[in-house]
Amino acid sequence: MNFTTKELAPSDAERSGAESKGAFVREMFARIAPRYDLANRMMTGGLDERWRRRAIKLLAPHSHARILDLCCGTGDLVFGLLRSEPTLDVTGIDFCRPMLDRAQARAKRISRGNARFIEGDVMAMSFPDQAFDGATMGFSLRNVVDVDATLREIFRVLRPGASFVNLDVSKAPNKRFKQFFDLYFYGVVPVLGGIIGGSREAYRYLPNSLIHHPNAPELRDRFTRAGFADAGYLPLVGGTIAIHYGRRP
Ligand SMILES: C[S@@+](CC[C@H](N)C(=O)[O-])C[C@H]1O[C@@H](n2cnc3c(N)ncnc32)[C@H](O)[C@@H]1O
Repeated sequence: MNFTTKELAPSDAERSGAESKGAFVREMFARIAPRYDLANRMMTGGLDERWRRRAIKLLAPHSHARILDLCCGTGDLVFGLLRSEPTLDVTGIDFCRPMLDRAQARAKRISRGNARFIEGDVMAMSFPDQAFDGATMGFSLRNVVDVDATLREIFRVLRPGASFVNLDVSKAPNKRFKQFFDLYFYGVVPVLGGIIGGSREAYRYLPNSLIHHPNAPELRDRFTRAGFADAGYLPLVGGTIAIHYGRRP
């Protein structure tokens, strides 16, 4: 199946099947992996690092905790977690080999703390039940084929009392602000993505993946439906970024 960005509207994606969407997303990230970090920093003016620190602060992992970073990509959250608490035991999981290769290369350079990277699909992980003391996810939940199934799978691998924190772009509740953000997100990001990231098509898909994603209150409710207690979210930058959280009771 030959996917193009335009064809990835959810109805088409659903028709084409979960496997095809997964393969499309994996290939797209393989294409942009070499310049993914640089593109992120330039498109957010470096703010993404600050948002990650907020997410890690919300997770507040205790020393020596086993933390899972889902859709770890090149490892930004994994290394951020280890910077915040070097005693952590952090596992990153992602299904895109080139993104993981970059994470592994960074791990060798940084050589701080205990980081391991595993290739796998977050919708069906090979970890046993209750294997982790906490979990994070950054800028990825929009990309999975089934958000609810993914949330249930994350819930499964957390021990009772463990928290999950999800950082992602979101839909600003204020109309004016949303218009301004949309102009940047849907207009400027693809152009910058073409120049810096090396693929205008990929950076057109990434913003579009937000269109059919639940808004912040809906996503919080889906955390609750997946079984998470005390589900909530912290809106940042006028709600264009949100950090959702919940705890396995
Ligand atoms: C936008 S990147 C985010 C990377 C990293 N979390 C960050 O904050 O920079 C999305 C990542 O999700 C991964 N991904 C998407 N769907 C996945 C799935 N079902 N299973 C595993 N990884 C997935 C992609 O391969 C990609 O590396």
